[in-house]
Amino acid sequence: MLNRTNTVLAVVLAIVVLLAVMSRVDYTQPNIEILPDMKYTPAWKTYAPNPNFANGRTLQAPVSGTIARGQLPLHFEATMEDALRAGEELINPYHQDDSPEAAAQLQASILRGGESFRVSCTPCHGATGLGDGPVAKRGFPPPPSLLTGKSRQMKDGQLFHILTFGQATMPQFAAQLTPQRRWDVINYIRDMQAKAPAPPEATAPPIDTAPPPEPTPSPEPTPSSEPTPPATTEPDADTPAATEPTEPPATPPDASPPKLNPAEVKPDAPDEM
Ligand code: HEC
Repeated sequence: MLNRTNTVLAVVLAIVVLLAVMSRVDYTQPNIEILPDMKYTPAWKTYAPNPNFANGRTLQAPVSGTIARGQLPLHFEATMEDALRAGEELINPYHQDDSPEAAAQLQASILRGGESFRVSCTPCHGATGLGDGPVAKRGFPPPPSLLTGKSRQMKDGQLFHILTFGQATMPQFAAQLTPQRRWDVINYIRDMQAKAPAPPEATAPPIDTAPPPEPTPSPEPTPSSEPTPPATTEPDADTPAATEPTEPPATPPDASPPKLNPAEVKPDAPDEM
């Protein structure tokens, strides 16, 4: 009887030892699993090729006509006519009524809009919207001022159209700014315009009050006077060299790539990430 018990115990011990050996101690690896069945479903990476679909992709396009929750489709084209139509049809969701709640929401919207404006718009339009951003100063066609120009008279919906589809050289921001953020930016611009110092001379009529007493002539007397100084300097062949002290510093970065770096930088990049 005792022998038999010992034998059973020995067999149990052997099984335990065997299991202990078989089960790995490497915790970075999955342990031995009995009957995993459907525990693991193959997860496809979003952009990985996928033989299960006819088009060979994992990420499938939404069914045509799909509308994202909380968003209404815009039925406008990127044309000037539709920009004007947007001005008539699109309603800024923020000026609903005069309640304190609406005013507080508008203030919050202006704050958010200021953030987005600093990120997305100041490069060209400048911090104060005058059109003197660093990009404009380096040769990009400078945008008109947002404080005194047409945009003051444009309806909110037209500004929304411009942010959504762009206008001439102005890029569109549909991908960067959600519709809600676009309204925030518009509210921020309106706030800037309201706080802007009285426009010099009669170049900018007030937003919504009575029309100005005199019909405004073309508002470009001052801008047109600025481009002339560069024109006078052109005849001199020496002036370009004299006016480019800033460009020699720009060339050393261009000279550094030949130092056989480019090929070595790429393998390093993944290690840093
Ligand atoms: C890459 C430079 C650039 C950036 C960035 C940019 N704009 Fe513009 N924007 C322009 C230019 C250039 C124009 C003039 C387009 C034209 O000739 O009609 C313009 C025009 C406009 C106008 C119409 C002004 C008018 O009087 O016709 C508005 C409004 C405007 N931009 C708002 C914005 C806002 C808001 C942002 C940020 C979300 C922004 N822009 C970002 C370059 C830029």
